Amino acid sequence: MVRITIVGTGYVGLVTGACFAEVGHRVVCVDNDEKKVALLKAGGIPIYEPGLEELVARNTAAGRLRFTLSTAEGVEASEVIFIAVPTPPLPDGSTDLSFVERVAREVAGAMTEYKIVVDKSTVPVKTGEKVAETIKRYNKRGVDFDVASNPEFLREGSAVQDLMHPDRVVIGVTNPRPVGKLKEIYAPFNAPVIVTDINSAELIKHACNSFLAMKISYANLMAAVCETTGANVLDVVHGMGLDKRIGRAFLDAGLGYGGSCFPKDISAFIHIGEQLGLDFGLLREVAKINAQQIQRFLKKIRDTLWILKDKRIAVLGLSFKPNTDDMRLAPSVEVIRALLKDGAIIRAYDPKAMPKAREVLPEIEYAKDPYDAAHGADALVLCTEWDEFRQLDLERLRAVMAHPIVFDGRNVFDKERMKQLGFIYRGVGR
Ligand code: UDX
Repeated sequence: MVRITIVGTGYVGLVTGACFAEVGHRVVCVDNDEKKVALLKAGGIPIYEPGLEELVARNTAAGRLRFTLSTAEGVEASEVIFIAVPTPPLPDGSTDLSFVERVAREVAGAMTEYKIVVDKSTVPVKTGEKVAETIKRYNKRGVDFDVASNPEFLREGSAVQDLMHPDRVVIGVTNPRPVGKLKEIYAPFNAPVIVTDINSAELIKHACNSFLAMKISYANLMAAVCETTGANVLDVVHGMGLDKRIGRAFLDAGLGYGGSCFPKDISAFIHIGEQLGLDFGLLREVAKINAQQIQRFLKKIRDTLWILKDKRIAVLGLSFKPNTDDMRLAPSVEVIRALLKDGAIIRAYDPKAMPKAREVLPEIEYAKDPYDAAHGADALVLCTEWDEFRQLDLERLRAVMAHPIVFDGRNVFDKERMKQLGFIYRGVGR
């Protein structure tokens, strides 16, 4: 059992804290948001993430997980302090590290005995050095400490699974002293652990996300080729994916990547490259293809419906991916805003994201289920591939629509079946 404090109770901090507690560690989660801490203390959960609510409830009840507003209390309670605060983008694409810096200062000021301070937030390479300098400067008592990097690789929607069964654990250190304790934390997860220097650990995270985004944009580029040649992108990525050197994962063409990680991490990595005097034209192209993907989809809608003014359009799926209520950089928002600008009337449905969507898109109507969204619609646009949509009664869907036209932004439906059922069907790359 290791005593662990996690500063920052967002997606990463909360899921990590709950999973560490689940395997037997004693965890304190710190956040400076009073409402959030009050909600968590009362047994509520600020986000939707499968399995998380039960995990938090079970471990809080068992006394292994608790929440506080006080960083000092968290530092006092534990030997290992994880930093899991946001690292949002600045207007120029670089990373805002002010939250990380503030936590480093607070932790330094509260330390009275040896601590291992581990950065889990996604940060530019060489941030660990700055964190160590900061702690040294603000640690007036001259207390001994180590800094480490331990990037997270969890995906929203499957974060608990990803954390409980990691492909690998990356630990970046400047000396061997903290390695034993950090390995002890991860021992129950039975995953390969790699120990590197801090710069390499920080780089692994940006390298992975950029590579995965590149796979997605590559698939989307192939989709564009398929659309102009009559080939089928589903067959193309199937054929590519069976090559063991490539693999099938992250080759789904669609509306491109969104969310709080890929867009931000790619911009940050491009910026890091510039600062290092390297031309990351490769990644600029990845981002460009991603942006074009939505424009090509909108063109398909406009080409088919011609005039959008006063057309009723149903939108299914709002979150940036299934199994989350996260609306951050969700492709649906860009699609809907463009349709609204053209004068369309939007009625949307999402299994979980509607409360958060209302904040971002207050000007649209929200439906109680997919059929309600589609009722009387001139067309239906699918933006997120929730499982629920795969199970739709398509005959019923067609019957409630004024015109059975479907734009499937995630290739959820079978093209032939849709045609047989009398739909005009437009997927991506097929
Ligand atoms: C990602 C990384 O996967 C994770 O390791 C990291 O720690 C955080 O960023 P996340 O953003 O939660 O996780 O979701 P992910 O499943 O990676 O999907 C990202 C975006 O890519 C989504 O918008 C998704 O719809 C899109 N995507 C994914 C595709 O368009 N095609 C694919 O084949 C896969």
